[in-house]
Amino acid sequence: MRTQVGIVGAGPAGLLLGHLLHLNGIDTVIVENRDREYVVDRVRAGVLEQGTVDLLAAIGVGAGLESRGLRHDGIFISFAGRRHRIDMAELTGGKAITVYGQNEVVRDLIDARVATQRPLYFDAQCVEVNALDSSTPIVRFVHGDTAHELQCDFIAGCDGFHGVCRPSIPEGVLSIYERSYPFGWLGILAEAAPSSDELVYTYHDRGFALFSMRSTSITRLYLQVPPDEPIERWPDDAIWEEMLTRMTTSDGWQPNVGRILQKGVTPMRSFVAAPMRHGRLFLAGDAAHIVPPTGAKGLNLAASDVVVLARALKAFYETGSTDWLEQYSAICLRRVWKAQRFSWWMTTLLHRLPDLTEFDRQRQLADLDYLIGSRAAMTSLAEQYVGLPQDF
Ligand code: FAD
Ligand code: PHB
Repeated sequence: MRTQVGIVGAGPAGLLLGHLLHLNGIDTVIVENRDREYVVDRVRAGVLEQGTVDLLAAIGVGAGLESRGLRHDGIFISFAGRRHRIDMAELTGGKAITVYGQNEVVRDLIDARVATQRPLYFDAQCVEVNALDSSTPIVRFVHGDTAHELQCDFIAGCDGFHGVCRPSIPEGVLSIYERSYPFGWLGILAEAAPSSDELVYTYHDRGFALFSMRSTSITRLYLQVPPDEPIERWPDDAIWEEMLTRMTTSDGWQPNVGRILQKGVTPMRSFVAAPMRHGRLFLAGDAAHIVPPTGAKGLNLAASDVVVLARALKAFYETGSTDWLEQYSAICLRRVWKAQRFSWWMTTLLHRLPDLTEFDRQRQLADLDYLIGSRAAMTSLAEQYVGLPQDF
């Protein structure tokens, strides 16, 4: 087989790239190693920046988002038993975030892909990328009983943190910048109407907690736990007890309790691989970088990477110029590092580190107190949370 751009991975990055290139008449084949149900049902991100929402609407995949997405103009920061609202829309000239599950985004993008009749292989096995330095890099995979060789002009490595593309880059090419955190997040999806219209980020002496949602009947909640915490240690009653202990505020606000539909533990990591390119392989999204979820940036960064990549590929096919492709990594990394900084800051502001001294605790509380008392500090948080403008 032959295509212009071989895309490895049908997560948000790969599917969105496929659609952007389709709209520019560029041929792609998407190769995904999981089945369609698994890819759609995977519960992950929920917060879309204003720019991501605008992008999905502009490319014709915004109908679900428009009808079922929940626009939030503000968020709450809660500490010392009180919730404080940050009015993001007022502070940013009308920008907001939209809560719409990543699985919904992925479902909408798969539907759009299927409608284009361009190839999307689920359940591909033994996926490999080769000849990255040549003018015809190759994706090999097995689908059903057939071994395929896909010759490409370019390969987009959109296969997430555990994919095959980044490890296929020869040793010594990439610089890795990494930080792990001494905690993880236990996340649940509960059959309970959200008791707040907006997210609540809670700093508590027992650890961070986050109140979010997926719809008007489903609440999504997270608890800071030790890293690699076995989920078996958390029967449903224990989860609710800890959620309520950390989140209940002195005015009596607390999440509604309901049947737990799904639960799991996620480790926290900051990671950047640079440059985001080797030869004719371009890395995008989690394949190149991971942020701790506290800033809600991962999916949005994946979207901004592929916007840059799609424009660079369009320029190449229209003019033959590789200028944009040469700049791809540098353009993306400027935004990535700002999102890294913001996600690290939100994480260290709100979590309890195991070796926290009383000085550190007082400093964190002062940081929070400064944040909710200073319009400048709130504006800084708000403009980053709703998403910095694309600077290209
Ligand atoms: P992925 O979604 O990981 O997609 C990669 C795809 O490649 C997958 O479908 C995978 O199956 C496939 N693949 C892997 N290996 C291969 C292979 N060898 N061959 C073929 N295919 C392969 N981000 C936000 O913006 N906001 C949030 O609120 C938020 N909350 C989060 C909460 C949690 C609990 C977690 C875990 C993450 C959260 N994120 C959030 C991060 C966000 O989910 C990721 O950044 C996003 O999924 C990245 O998209 P991606 O397409 O780059 O990678
Ligand atoms: C979510 O709803 O899953 C969510 C919201 C905000 C975050 C992370 C995850 O910072």
